[in-house]
Amino acid sequence: MSMLTAKCWPLLWLLCRYASAVVADVSCEEHDLHATQLLQMTSIIHPELHSSLKPWDVHYYLGVAYHKSGTFLMIEVWRSIFQALGAKLFIDMGQWVQPCYPGTCYAPDAPIQVWVDLYSPAKAQKAREAAGERGLRVAGFVRDPVSMIVSAYCYHHRGKEVKNIVENPQGIVAQMGPLEGLTFEAERMLSVVKNMTGVFEHPANDTLRLDYERTTASSDGFDSEMVKLIGFLFEDLISAEERAEVLNATQTADLNRHPDNDDDNHSNDPDCKARTREYVPAMPSDLLGQYRSFQQRLGYALS
Ligand SMILES: *[C@@H]1O[C@H](CO)[C@@H](O)[C@H](O)[C@H]1NC(C)=O
Ligand SMILES: *[C@@H]1O[C@H](CO)[C@@H](O)[C@H](O)[C@H]1NC(C)=O
Ligand SMILES: *[C@@H]1O[C@H](CO)[C@@H](O)[C@H](O)[C@H]1NC(C)=O
Ligand SMILES: *[C@@H]1O[C@H](CO)[C@@H](O)[C@H](O)[C@H]1NC(C)=O
Repeated sequence: MSMLTAKCWPLLWLLCRYASAVVADVSCEEHDLHATQLLQMTSIIHPELHSSLKPWDVHYYLGVAYHKSGTFLMIEVWRSIFQALGAKLFIDMGQWVQPCYPGTCYAPDAPIQVWVDLYSPAKAQKAREAAGERGLRVAGFVRDPVSMIVSAYCYHHRGKEVKNIVENPQGIVAQMGPLEGLTFEAERMLSVVKNMTGVFEHPANDTLRLDYERTTASSDGFDSEMVKLIGFLFEDLISAEERAEVLNATQTADLNRHPDNDDDNHSNDPDCKARTREYVPAMPSDLLGQYRSFQQRLGYALS
């Protein structure tokens, strides 16, 4: 795993990481892995499971994520849940990212999807209509919108995702001070945060709002959010034993239990976040007003 460095585009890196479990010499820099190649790799790691009808034969499953509200977390959680039940990555499980960076979009027709920076109330309506009688189960993490822009600044300022053309074009955030950077991210992320807020302020009955803060603050919080998620997704479609297996599988994504699993060095320095947060009140007032409004609609204290 050591050759998979932070130089890689993170989502691509995440993809490589699973592929590299069976193919030792996959390297992020060169690969642009082709879907068929990946299919062959993944079919080696996931043997056929016994039982016939799977939850994803019954419903469509859609995990949604937004920049800096736990995208990696969502991808990891979703993958671990469905793989524990025998779903195959790239066959049963697809992903779409907006914009669609090389290697980040695949298997758009698979019944289990992760959508990143894409899902809005309008898209929800379309997805629901497309799902028809089979029905959709949607879940996503919601995070304090102000924490999201603070996190984006700290993350990109330390040189992460220089290929991200939306939130860090040409790596320019490295050159920005906290106020300039915060303002930049707040503008760049308006559409992301607006869509997250629209989807989750009054979630539809096929949609579960997960709490990013509770999930990441402690392992107890992590488990209670996961129990909620697993119950929502599967109801009585899986056995109590499978439920326990799935919960256990999700725990690899809990960085309080497994700090070493942050091998992309994704977590930001708490000092950077605290220092940057002090500049929030100095942001242009119309922009700040929009973020206050998102906070309010989602039930966060104005901070
Ligand atoms: C937000 O939603 C709009 C309307 O559906 C969509 O056009 C846009 O691409 C979405 N943007 C993000 C970042 O989710
Ligand atoms: C959501 O509500 C609609 C209409 O009220 C109902 O037909 C549908 O079965 C509900 N879906 C879920 C997942 O509970
Ligand atoms: C729990 O998950 C770990 C790996 O994440 C695995 O090694 C272990 O066998 C699992 N335990 C059960 C009871 O499924
Ligand atoms: C993670 O990034 C921080 C900030 O850029 C850096 O100081 C630290 O050395 C990095 N840690 C690892 C394990 O690469």
